[in-house]
Amino acid sequence: PYPSLSIEEMRLRIQSVRDHFGKKLVILAHHYQRPEIVELSDIRGDSLQLAQYAASQKDADYIVFCGVHFMAEGSDILKRGNQTIVLPDLGAGCDMADMADADDVEEAFEQLIDVVGHESIMPVTYINSTAALKAFVAKKGGMICTSSNAHKIVSWALKERKILFFYPDQHLGRNTAKQLGISPNNMNIWNPKKPFGGLEKENIKQTQVMLWQGCCPVHMMFSAKQIDLIRAKDPEYKIISHPECSMEVVDKSDFAGSTDFIVKTIANSPSGSKWAVGTELNLVNRIAKENPDKSVISINPFMCLCGTMNRIDLPHLTWALEEIAKGTAKNVIEVHEPTRSLAKQALLRMLEMSI
Ligand code: 13P
Ligand code: SF4
Repeated sequence: PYPSLSIEEMRLRIQSVRDHFGKKLVILAHHYQRPEIVELSDIRGDSLQLAQYAASQKDADYIVFCGVHFMAEGSDILKRGNQTIVLPDLGAGCDMADMADADDVEEAFEQLIDVVGHESIMPVTYINSTAALKAFVAKKGGMICTSSNAHKIVSWALKERKILFFYPDQHLGRNTAKQLGISPNNMNIWNPKKPFGGLEKENIKQTQVMLWQGCCPVHMMFSAKQIDLIRAKDPEYKIISHPECSMEVVDKSDFAGSTDFIVKTIANSPSGSKWAVGTELNLVNRIAKENPDKSVISINPFMCLCGTMNRIDLPHLTWALEEIAKGTAKNVIEVHEPTRSLAKQALLRMLEMSI
């Protein structure tokens, strides 16, 4: 169904749909989107900003989400009124979100209760998770976090109950808890394929932070050794990484934070600064282009594009917009009840705590 047209023609056709709808149609883009998609978007941002935007939209009838599936789901859950949320390619999932199936999490939670009791466990899920997992966490009195509010929310969770159970990203969970003073010795990884996560019951009882065995394959491409090599070549390079990187990488970085934090930190640095960045390559290349007076490189320039984010391209966007214009919107993302109300409760609570 995707048009095979020149880039210029696709741009013109996209623009013509946008002109037709005006403010009734908005295109949101995550920072990892291809440059040609970001150029055409109305709003770009990190996961928290895009969720906040979706929750505040009243005028748009259509939100075209250039990002991955969990982000479009979040937008549908938080939308105001009758908006239609479209993900231009349904294959744009998040490998990390797929690592925590809500049923597996529920089973693990029950096993943990067997050992430590219900009142002891606070579940927290990273926003990179399915709506079903968000709903489960809401049912258990837990929370959702993003990379930009993780510090605040994990700090709250640690005060509320004895054990924090963090899904799906072990690295964001570990890095955040460590920054809050928890020793990695008091953290354990829960392997969902093994009974009791593959852990001894005595070991479970001593755990303060239980980490689901999930990760982002893109952020696993950065290593402490690559940072050492960059510093050995030129010690003027400052290292900035996303907290989905391993603890070794984050510990060696000068700064760590969300995609938006990375964009702003480099933009606000003095002219002539040198930065090596540990996050997705589309974003690193864009920061380099937008900061021509600075040197901006990737910690690892190979293999760190997010393949699923990249699925959204001009042919998919042209097709999705033209289907909307014909009145036959395709790839509409809808979260149904009761998942919707539960996940919404948890997302709104997170937004409230992020102010
Ligand atoms: P941010 O919320 O920092 O944009 O991260 C989203 C993500 O998927 C990073 O891999
Ligand atoms: Fe998911 Fe990793 Fe891609 Fe982010 S970069 S969307 S966590 S797979």
